[in-house]
Amino acid sequence: MEKVNVGLVGLGWPGQRHAEGVQGSDLGQLYAACDLNAARRETFAVKYAPQRLFADYDEMLADPSVQAVVISLPNSLHFPTTLKALHAGKHVLCEKPPTLNAEQMRQLRNEADSRGLIYFFGRQMRFSGSVQAARRAVAERRLGEIYFAKTMWVRSRGTPGGIDGWFTDRSRAGGGVVIDLGVHAIDAAWYLMGTPKPRTVSAQTYQKFPQLVKAPVFDVEDSADGMIRFENGSSLLFEVSWAANLPDDIPLGKWGSRELFSTVVHGPKGTIRIVDVLQLHPSEKIPALTLFEDRNGKLETVELPFEPVPHEFVPQMQNFLRAINGVEPPINSAVQAVKLMEILDAIYESSLRGHEVVLS
Ligand SMILES: NC(=O)c1ccc[n+]([C@@H]2O[C@H](COP(=O)([O-])OP(=O)(O)OC[C@H]3O[C@@H](n4cnc5c(N)ncnc54)[C@H](O)[C@@H]3O)[C@@H](O)[C@H]2O)c1
Repeated sequence: MEKVNVGLVGLGWPGQRHAEGVQGSDLGQLYAACDLNAARRETFAVKYAPQRLFADYDEMLADPSVQAVVISLPNSLHFPTTLKALHAGKHVLCEKPPTLNAEQMRQLRNEADSRGLIYFFGRQMRFSGSVQAARRAVAERRLGEIYFAKTMWVRSRGTPGGIDGWFTDRSRAGGGVVIDLGVHAIDAAWYLMGTPKPRTVSAQTYQKFPQLVKAPVFDVEDSADGMIRFENGSSLLFEVSWAANLPDDIPLGKWGSRELFSTVVHGPKGTIRIVDVLQLHPSEKIPALTLFEDRNGKLETVELPFEPVPHEFVPQMQNFLRAINGVEPPINSAVQAVKLMEILDAIYESSLRGHEVVLS
């Protein structure tokens, strides 16, 4: 297999993790890096030593040595930058959310398909040890036919800002906590459920705590909940918040306020629960992966062992680069990105209209 020259654009927290992903993979070469912000560029260059540094991503895309681009920019730039990269003949790994809506994502899927390029959306948590072990338990039919799941990523106080407050600005983020944490929470359950086709969505978004942060613009939701029904008869309840007065059954998060990212998937033979322990305060001792199993009518609790993955961005990058080499399909595919964005569109539409939305 051939090593792929990777160019990164956007050098904040996820951009740096992707650099480590490239360096941790035997198939990638950290060739170029780009950011508008000179201080971030310089700090990045000292730590990761890419061969070329850019302030302008058009210039990076014009470099024929760049074969694949990893985009970690504010959300509103995901679509135009991915489109430009595909037009320039580059494979793309773009951070979540894939785009601002499903229509944009359909365009990217068609563009990548027609050019024979790989499109991949960033969802590193699919590659964690606990999620992979849960997938194996589902595949071994330890749950039976999945009929229901409940997923949440809730914070009592944890509204993000980004480099200049873009996370709470609809024109640059496309939405609030739904498009930010909701993508992770919903995908965590949807992936374990086998990515069934969504049929209806009923949801409500709220904006109750803008006063907690000093944001130049705050015109997005800071919490939401809802229900998604799938064509196979299963359903998913979700709850997300950047800020809420959460009760004390929600544990302490790593920043000291309450926080929980947990996904529970039910089948008649067993229920599996995944807790993202990376988000927890060190004082909290909740197991990462637990199976609640029916054994001849008796409910047993089994802590499932799994091989921890020290850095989830490494196997994610490895899958992207192997997909470019044509040896395995991309796990975070364009087809799934379209479906995820359809779910997100329907959540916002349902909230706006005040009733359930039927997906076509
Ligand atoms: N996978 C994850 O767990 C995870 C975690 C955090 C953020 N994200 C996603 O990553 C993306 C970036 O988030 P972040 O937290 O790094 O935001 P950030 O604001 O910290 O960083 C964005 C970077 O993009 C740069 N930038 C903005 N416009 C640019 C342009 N036109 N050309 C070049 N550089 C430009 C900024 O200077 C900044 O360094 C978001 O889409 C977010 O949803 C994913």
